[in-house]
Amino acid sequence: TVTLNTAAKAAGKLYFGSATDNPELTDSAYLAILRDTAMFGQLTPGNSMKWDAIEPEQNVFDFTGGDQTVALAEATGKIIRGHNLVWHSQLPDWVMYGDWTPNTLTSVIETHVRTEVSHYRGKMYAWDVVNEPLNDDGTMRADVFYNILNSSYITLALQTAHAADPYAKLYINDYNLEYTGPKINAMVQLVEDLLAAGAPIHGVGFESHFILGDVSGTQLQTNMERITALGLEVAVTELDVRIQLPATDANLEQQKADYTTVVQACMAVPGCVGVTVWDYTDKYTWIPAAFPGQGEACPWDANLLPKPAYDGIAMGFNAS
Ligand code: G3I
Repeated sequence: TVTLNTAAKAAGKLYFGSATDNPELTDSAYLAILRDTAMFGQLTPGNSMKWDAIEPEQNVFDFTGGDQTVALAEATGKIIRGHNLVWHSQLPDWVMYGDWTPNTLTSVIETHVRTEVSHYRGKMYAWDVVNEPLNDDGTMRADVFYNILNSSYITLALQTAHAADPYAKLYINDYNLEYTGPKINAMVQLVEDLLAAGAPIHGVGFESHFILGDVSGTQLQTNMERITALGLEVAVTELDVRIQLPATDANLEQQKADYTTVVQACMAVPGCVGVTVWDYTDKYTWIPAAFPGQGEACPWDANLLPKPAYDGIAMGFNAS
């Protein structure tokens, strides 16, 4: 039978991977599938490397969850995408509600990024340095970082990360870059501005949280090509395709087609390095908690059995 990381590599990609989270690692049936490196060549920690987990109080660092993910990846020969360093969400209150000046917030970002990236120096393929900086209309998200530092916080985070680990690829990661329109236009502009300023920026992550039937392969490919034309790489970083429940057999066939479309878009773009699903099984998908009434977004079902979407991914890699 076809295994997906093997298929991705045979097709010239660097990896097929999955997000995971620490509580799931006690599930031995789940873990057995995740460990198989013919299936998954890459891991992304779904929560354990975020600011609230890593630095819950100022200058108090806890790498326990992140280290567990890294140990699993190292034991099974998988590469890791670090996720993430600077994001408006899952921020501890001390950052979110701090009474910052530009100088004090600069120091907070430098300490956080330098300490976390240094801890994992040499172990990471890539870091999502800045996560979700844009609004859907293409304006900058007015979070605590932007409000105090304007867009200079992005350059600051990239430079600090690069100094701490010059070998890691530094990404900006965002959602709704998969469609043509103001958000991808703004991302292209942001990357151009960063490059012109000499900032270390190496990739853009296309999260790819899709709604069933709402995938445009041509738009996704076009948008990836706009980024790779600037000399950066791209990746599908958080793929899932959510369904209004209860899912019908026809829905699952559409989902299969949607997964194929996304993988084919990555295949069509030489600078698209790999595809990561935002956890591989419906048992642990984030969707129902965030979108009540929707779910079954992953390529394996809640019983850890492959769905039609699994074959859809294999087909996208020309492997079935
Ligand atoms: O850790 C607490 C736990 O102590 C508490 O008992 C429990 C009760 O609800 O909540 C736990 O925190 C949850 C956390 O995941 C860890 O499980 C939060 O409520 C929950 O909101 C959080 O959701 C995560 C979400 O990011 C937060 O925005 C998802 O697991 C995670 O998959 C999701 O991932 C994001 C990417 O980082 C960025 N792109 C979008 C993607 C989906 O939202």
